[in-house]
Amino acid sequence: MKNTILLSIFFITAIFFITGCNGEEGTAYPDAIFRNPEYSAEERTEDLLSKMSLDEKIGQMTQAENSVLFDNKNDIRKYYIGSILSGGGAGPRGQANAKAWADMYDEFQSYALRTRIGVPMIYGVDAVHGHNNVKGAVIFPHNIGLGCTRNPELVGEVARITALEVAATGIDWTFAPCIAVPRNERWGRTYEGFGETPELVAMMAEAAVKGFQGANLSDPETILACAKHFLADGGTMSGKDQGNALIDETELREIHLPGYLSAINAGVGSIMASFSSWNGNKMHGNKYLLTDVLKTELGFSGFVVSDWQAINQLPGGFDAQVRESINAGIDMVMVPHDYREFFKQLKKEVEGGKIPMERIDDAVRRILKIKFQMGLFENPLTDRSLLSSVGSKEHREVARDAVRQSLVLLQNKNRILPLAKNLKHIHVTGKSADNMGRQCGGWTITWQGESGRITAGTTVLDAIKNTVSPDTKVTYSSDGKGADIGIVVIGEEPYAEGKGDSNDLDIDEKDKTAIESMKKLGIPFVVILISGRPLLIQEVLKDSDAFIAAWLPGSEGQGIADVLFGDYKPTGKLSLSWPKTMIQIPVNVGDPVYDPLFEYGFGLTY
Ligand code: GLC
Repeated sequence: MKNTILLSIFFITAIFFITGCNGEEGTAYPDAIFRNPEYSAEERTEDLLSKMSLDEKIGQMTQAENSVLFDNKNDIRKYYIGSILSGGGAGPRGQANAKAWADMYDEFQSYALRTRIGVPMIYGVDAVHGHNNVKGAVIFPHNIGLGCTRNPELVGEVARITALEVAATGIDWTFAPCIAVPRNERWGRTYEGFGETPELVAMMAEAAVKGFQGANLSDPETILACAKHFLADGGTMSGKDQGNALIDETELREIHLPGYLSAINAGVGSIMASFSSWNGNKMHGNKYLLTDVLKTELGFSGFVVSDWQAINQLPGGFDAQVRESINAGIDMVMVPHDYREFFKQLKKEVEGGKIPMERIDDAVRRILKIKFQMGLFENPLTDRSLLSSVGSKEHREVARDAVRQSLVLLQNKNRILPLAKNLKHIHVTGKSADNMGRQCGGWTITWQGESGRITAGTTVLDAIKNTVSPDTKVTYSSDGKGADIGIVVIGEEPYAEGKGDSNDLDIDEKDKTAIESMKKLGIPFVVILISGRPLLIQEVLKDSDAFIAAWLPGSEGQGIADVLFGDYKPTGKLSLSWPKTMIQIPVNVGDPVYDPLFEYGFGLTY
């Protein structure tokens, strides 16, 4: 008898051990209010919160990256991980196509659902100009170009399509829109902002948030938006990324706050804190701005997520960093790798009375409410019916239109534009003429982006060939003798964040050489600039006949040919003042002395 009992205990334990299910199958409280969608998100939140342990609450405040969880999936259960992210480019292992992303998401989610209560995790990515981590997804123009469209309906449509392509891969949340107000083009993240004025940023912030989140966050084709980076990330001294905004509170509120007012009024569900500082105080520890202003004064009821390892930049040891950031108003911490240490430290701070339970409950309440509003409890897994929409022709047509509307015509001597489609011979040169990676810029397939044929799409050269008559000869970078017209496509190498910080915005030597060789042909020529910001172009303007600022147009280069050959008259207006020299930067509309090469809002047409 005794042996039978021992044997059965052994088998039951073995089953638990092998299946990893320690009786926690997400089924606790089967008839509770929080499991019933008839109740409001607020009611369900309060009910669930009252049933959670401290460990489960801390788990909701912990965000870990997929890269460290692939080989530690059970930690999602052990630490009740409430959120997972992919940093720039951190896709599924191996194939990075849409289906592989959906499979990765569903697998991670299945672990979150197998905890005692089974609170679904929420997964975030930087889908900042399309679902840009995913090969084959449509890549839209970066925000600096979208700002030049002055078209909030279009920006809303871009966000709606991005949300659909992101949701198709299971992902619930984008760390976008970036509503920085870039005031100094030395900043490597200039292209992530819609423009240099609070009015333009506020207009686009509303459009983007509504596009991502739709009318109802539980709609399977919508995702949670995240306005970033709070506050004044674009206002640092010398445009230094993660630097210090040395400005008074009047300027802080007039220039950098309106975008957040607009985003909050549009219902944005999350906001990301900025790495940067305001007058020497790191934003991640700034209780006045994160709590008193953002949550109390402005009434933001969503949750604040930290930036990547940003709490580690706070003064003191890890204990002080955890304490200060959470007490300041950070609700979820993008750890993203040392989640075990974070979990233990946060628990220690709470148990030691250094972080009040009210603060923990406030953070978890904010997070859970959003998860209920998103319908995550009812539909935690990928809706596979959406997969076919990723990279669709319809989506590419919208991206092409966004490219058309983002182009700014800065010069058109002798009206050489628009070009005829039946010219005998067009000669194309320039390192950015046939380069998808340069056309897309940073945050594309990888974090920093990279030169080359990195994803599907149409390069500028492809687009020119697609548009001209069959009898038109198009030569590229080889001998252009006898050509009627030249087209030189120049620009920047891809970069993201601080890697793009620069004190030298001159045209690079390769581009100067390409222009020189075109000049030698003695024919009229057009220059197209593919860049994340205005560069110093006075010499280039002298040498060239026409000049188009194309920013970082993304995968649909056909939109550039539409303007070149007159199928679309250029309508773009500068979203940033164009500087003459480096010493002139920062130069922004409204400056007491304002003498840029081209003013904010400038743009020619045909
Ligand atoms: C980065 C960026 C932020 C991004 C986050 C996750 O450091 O500052 O914009 O959302 O990390 O990739």
